[in-house]
Amino acid sequence: MRIFLFAAVAILAVAGAASAQTGAEIFQRCAGCHSVAAGVVDTPGPNLVGLIGRKAGSQPGASDAMKAAGDKGLVWSEATLDKFLDDPYAAVPDNGMEFSGLERAPDRKAVIDYLKSAPH
Ligand code: HEC
Repeated sequence: MRIFLFAAVAILAVAGAASAQTGAEIFQRCAGCHSVAAGVVDTPGPNLVGLIGRKAGSQPGASDAMKAAGDKGLVWSEATLDKFLDDPYAAVPDNGMEFSGLERAPDRKAVIDYLKSAPH
């Protein structure tokens, strides 16, 4: 029993450490496809500088699905980003982002806060 408790505490400690990941650390999962540096456009996904308040799909290379979502009124805010990053394909069906999303709400909040202060 004592060993079991120790293991449980150790697992909780690891889970706690994971929840303390910063937005910059979580952004490493996006960084293969997106830049948060001004003017960098040679990435598979759109540059994310100035994202908050921007119409979805308004950057070069956006898919028809993303452009249509923007034309229907999708503008990036904390709330719309939270929904999109939770489940990109549910939020914008047929969009071209090959990423299944961030399951944990604190991770989404941390990365959205990080994006709010781009460029980095
Ligand atoms: C495998 C590459 C890839 C990864 C990883 C990825 N994205 Fe994307 N992302 C894309 C592509 C490609 C698009 C354009 C999709 C479209 O237009 O349909 C996109 C679109 C977006 C958009 C909409 C941009 C706009 O101007 O409308 C946001 C916001 C976004 N990604 C955020 C993120 C965040 C935050 C992460 C990490 C948690 C991430 N992405 C991970 C490739 C990726």
